[in-house]
Amino acid sequence: MNPNIKQNIKNKIRQLAKEKNAIIIAHNYQPPEIQDIADLCGDSLELSIKASQTDADIIVFCGVKFMAETASILSPGKTILLPRLDAGCPMADMVTPEALKARIAENPSMPVVTYVNSTAAVKALTTICCTSANVVRVAGSIKENEMLMVPDRNLANYAATKTDKIIHTWDGYCPFHDALTPKQVIKQKQAHPDALFMAHPECRIEVLELADMIASTSGMINIAKESESTSFIVGTEVGLLYPLQKANPGKTFYPASTAMECVDMKKITLADVAGSLENLSGEVKVPEDIRVPALQSVKQMVEL
Ligand code: 13P
Ligand code: SF4
Repeated sequence: MNPNIKQNIKNKIRQLAKEKNAIIIAHNYQPPEIQDIADLCGDSLELSIKASQTDADIIVFCGVKFMAETASILSPGKTILLPRLDAGCPMADMVTPEALKARIAENPSMPVVTYVNSTAAVKALTTICCTSANVVRVAGSIKENEMLMVPDRNLANYAATKTDKIIHTWDGYCPFHDALTPKQVIKQKQAHPDALFMAHPECRIEVLELADMIASTSGMINIAKESESTSFIVGTEVGLLYPLQKANPGKTFYPASTAMECVDMKKITLADVAGSLENLSGEVKVPEDIRVPALQSVKQMVEL
């Protein structure tokens, strides 16, 4: 895009955000120009907390649909805008409320821990939510000895290595994290023998076994800042390389695999953000009969 046109769109976004008392928040996987225009970037937990605390009238959520739904669950009085309503999450769609209801009916007393990467209707059936940043803490907070964790089997398998509790899994996964293989990681480790390997818990257990550190996206940014190491292999969606590099200009980051690019996380453009703010288009509003039960599980997590 012509740099002048780009700058005009950025100016228009900031102007509209000011006029309409809107806050723009962006996930760490969003394209660089979206992260640069945002008031705040972060991982799913940070964005959920921010969405519950802001005084803004409008939240423009640059991420995917489940994130905007979580903001709507927490802030029913605010207008939540998702500049591209078709930005979804394939993993979230791997558990439907009907299928979860059937599984709960098999063992109604079993607590259900739901990854925030899920629809509001699934959250409404849930005991407590979790994110990649707090999954171990959430699993530890359950008083029962067994729990069902949905939809990410990899996150559940990871949590099971960190607790004595029995965690039953659901057969969901992130197509981009799940596709990373130990072979690809070993190849990168051989090419960069001094680099630390950081992996996201959405990766398979055999990949996590090769990791020096396992963390959420913001967790990885903090690890890179605090570590004495100057190079890192990054086992998560490639969008994270931008905030990693921005926060650590003197350090080097290698993707574990360049194929780890989430199509949905790359849909929102600056023009989409401007259009959404101007016309208040792309509103996400969770209906009250789903929001009220879903709020219990999200609130429990945010307040933990
Ligand atoms: P976090 O940023 O919470 O680690 O989440 C990763 C993710 O897949 C979001 O879609
Ligand atoms: Fe969903 Fe994976 Fe994309 Fe995150 S990276 S939004 S889990 S498909």
